[in-house]
Amino acid sequence: MKVIEIEGNRKLEGTIRISGAKNATVALIPAAILTDEEATICNVPEITDTDALCDILKELNVKVNRSTESVVINPREMINKEIEEQFSKKLRASYYFMGALLGKYKKAEMYFPGGCSIGARPIDLHLKGFEALGATVRNENNKYIVEAKELKGANIYLDIASVGATINIMLAAVKAKGTTIIDNAAKEPEIVNVATFLNNMGANITGAGTSTIKIKGVEHLHQCFHEVIPDRIEAGTYIIIGALCGHPLKVDNVIPEHVDSLLSKLEEMRIGLEIGADYVTIIDNNEKLVATNIKTAVYPGFPTDLQQPFTVLLTQANGKSKVTETIWENRFMHIPYLKALGANIEVKNQTATIIGPTPLKGEEVIATDLRAGAAMVAAALIAEGKTTITNAEHILRGYEQIVEKLTAVGAKITIKEI
Ligand code: UD1
Repeated sequence: MKVIEIEGNRKLEGTIRISGAKNATVALIPAAILTDEEATICNVPEITDTDALCDILKELNVKVNRSTESVVINPREMINKEIEEQFSKKLRASYYFMGALLGKYKKAEMYFPGGCSIGARPIDLHLKGFEALGATVRNENNKYIVEAKELKGANIYLDIASVGATINIMLAAVKAKGTTIIDNAAKEPEIVNVATFLNNMGANITGAGTSTIKIKGVEHLHQCFHEVIPDRIEAGTYIIIGALCGHPLKVDNVIPEHVDSLLSKLEEMRIGLEIGADYVTIIDNNEKLVATNIKTAVYPGFPTDLQQPFTVLLTQANGKSKVTETIWENRFMHIPYLKALGANIEVKNQTATIIGPTPLKGEEVIATDLRAGAAMVAAALIAEGKTTITNAEHILRGYEQIVEKLTAVGAKITIKEI
């Protein structure tokens, strides 16, 4: 098990550069098998989710060449075979191989995906989408078998604007006969990034980033070169850390528009910000932080993935704040640990009420999932004394070089294996 230790209560000063987006990368890597030619993807984050997907590619006999920040994928000698449980369980996004394999071979066999325990996480909308395109879906001993004689374009309305379902259906439909229309599609920037990648390979997708996506099936996809967008959740996490203890802290390589909902909340809390074309600097202005309320929502609403670290900031605001989680039913697992550090928080149904400000004091805590882990890091950075965060593997799934990045701006943070 990996353990992160932080000696808190220090100001952080300098620049943190944001890596490529995890949630785009985890779809781009499976998407790359849709061609038989070489795809080069750059600005790929070095996180364990990337490793896990590259391992799946290798299992399918795909050539994978990784160097710093880029991956070259060549599926010329690929073999379509079952994706075993030991690979599928490593992350949620392994499910993108279902859409990609179905789109390419009209058959995908994969054990159930894994991922953070933040809710029930059904994939019924993905499967319904595959069925609408003409596939049959069987579920045998924790394994999905999805196959079609022919994939035909269809009109698909998503009951929920699901990121995963939108991308998976796009992957399956890209080479289908005719036109597919996804209505009530999710609008997250990662979806636009994946659609751009597919279009660079010769696909015909329009409307990504809006709630109606149109995919005209094409026969052939070719080689391409693509860049992953900056990670808005990593950026948001460091911006929140900057708001907690920046002196000042510049978060660089950001698309500020992608974190608009966060920035407007920070302004509401009276946190001094300088917003540039591709950076956000959090200025240490010693103002009293004003309490506020957030409600998570699909993009461009407040991202659920920033809710947990943002709660840490609210423990330092004056008065009563509320956090309402609307996407995942089990995303308050960080709260007992924040309380152990000294926070005053009560959770009722899907709302956490935070009364601040409360000083935090170092303790032993657990990273129960990826973003809960990020919240623990944020809290530990302002806590007096030493905080030990166990199960830190969760954090490494989504934050590239978190220890190095924070050390470079003055944090006292170490990671070890026990
Ligand atoms: C993606 C992100 C995750 C983020 C989430 C919401 C990736 C790899 N992960 O997850 O970090 O927290 O978006 O922004 O991009 N749902 C169904 N049936 C389905 C699919 C989803 O009921 O078939 C529900 C889910 O239970 C959840 C909601 O829809 O309540 C949103 O889920 P979705 O957008 O699909 O999240 P993911 O793609 O899994």
